[in-house]
Amino acid sequence: MTRETWATRMGFILAAVGSAVGLGNIWRFPWVTAENGGSAFLLVYLAIVVLVGVPGILGEFVIGRRSGRNPVGALRELSGSRTWGLVGMLSVLTGVALLSFYSVVGGWILRYFVESLVALGTAGPAPYFADPGSYYDGIAFTTDAVLYHVAFLVLTALIVFAGIRRGIEIGTKVMMPAILLLLVGLAVWASQQPNAAAGYEFYLSFDLATLRANFFDVLGPAAGQALFTLSLGAGTMVTYASYIGDDRSLPFDATTIAVLNTFVGVLAGLVVFPLLFSVTGEAGSSGPGALFVSIAGAFARLPAGTLIATAFFGVVTLAALSSSISMLEIPVSFLVDEFEFSRPVAVGGVAGLVVVTGSVNALRPALFGFVAGPLVDSLLTIGLIVFLLFVGWVLGVDAVDEFRRGSGSLANTLSTPWLLAVGVAIPFFLVFTLLSSLGLGGIAASLIPVSSFWLTVVMTVVLTVGAFVGLRGSRSVV
Ligand code: PHE
Repeated sequence: MTRETWATRMGFILAAVGSAVGLGNIWRFPWVTAENGGSAFLLVYLAIVVLVGVPGILGEFVIGRRSGRNPVGALRELSGSRTWGLVGMLSVLTGVALLSFYSVVGGWILRYFVESLVALGTAGPAPYFADPGSYYDGIAFTTDAVLYHVAFLVLTALIVFAGIRRGIEIGTKVMMPAILLLLVGLAVWASQQPNAAAGYEFYLSFDLATLRANFFDVLGPAAGQALFTLSLGAGTMVTYASYIGDDRSLPFDATTIAVLNTFVGVLAGLVVFPLLFSVTGEAGSSGPGALFVSIAGAFARLPAGTLIATAFFGVVTLAALSSSISMLEIPVSFLVDEFEFSRPVAVGGVAGLVVVTGSVNALRPALFGFVAGPLVDSLLTIGLIVFLLFVGWVLGVDAVDEFRRGSGSLANTLSTPWLLAVGVAIPFFLVFTLLSSLGLGGIAASLIPVSSFWLTVVMTVVLTVGAFVGLRGSRSVV
């Protein structure tokens, strides 16, 4: 059977943007930003998106398009070694882990959407309006949450089941413009609310002193959030790029995806923070319930609240679906490519597994917190380190060749520095953030008498130069 490809040029971009834009931007981003001090976090996060995210997406794209395979097959084929294939299994695991908590949150969102819609139809207030806090507590980790998780998973499975062109491509083509339009509308509306300025202040006023003082603390969460929101490290971008042709410029596509995703993330902040401050006067309760408790609370106090809530949760449901399908596609493409499973059987098998793993998450808040935070952050960070080392040290010149295929002259000039960055500097940086999120960064910082901020800058430069020497020895590109 010949492998499917995207039907149109826009199809691939929209699907990749659809994967990136999701609960990471709308549910996770405000909560993690609030927990890490607001604007200081935002700055580090944006820097990581540009310096690690864009080259990182390109790394995954190169692997995917060069091999035309799922992550396992890709690493094995391109290296000619079974061991690399086994390493690629990490992606399959990550895909399942991601979906196991994501579809629980997707289920909560779906529930809020359905409840709002019903309220709209019956012209009553949405049930969570009266006491958003206890409403959320009452539904979050219950058997109801299991039901909605399964419902969300079924929707995800139906789209993936329909395949690349009829399912993922058409689905995201409808979902993405709808999301953008509604978010812009909500952001404009939010700006009219009293005390919105305090929200902008918390979110956007950059303060270098706070940043330096907290640099180590925000590094791990900022990197984790950047990878999560860009769908990096799980093999999603490898998988999606395996369905594209040689005529696309990978650097152009990677930049477009990062820009659009960041736009939506920042836009979501422009909806969430002014609203929170307008209603509660502060960043709101932190943790996974933040969005539900605070935003739902905000809607409750506003005229036409039910209508706005319906639009909002509708948008978020679409955004979540266009991401969850990309998580499911990783193990599915693995089963289809490697074991020649038919698509329906692969989709059914993986979804069946996630019904179980997700249900456990939906009933155990502590486990959920661990999977949604530290576990996923570490898996994505390790995954991206693996992909980038593979690009730098196994593909070498071939990666540069793939990078250049279909791209313009500026991109050609950047290809060699890019290889050096992904081969050495970025993996080094990621190891560093991994250590710091394990709590070891603080220890390192107290041992080293230089400002951690400048230390990181200097080390990155030193390592980039070192890369020239290092990569020269393997498959010469310089
Ligand atoms: N980027 C998605 C979001 O922000 C989540 C995701 C992570 C999707 C990793 C695929 C792979 O919601």
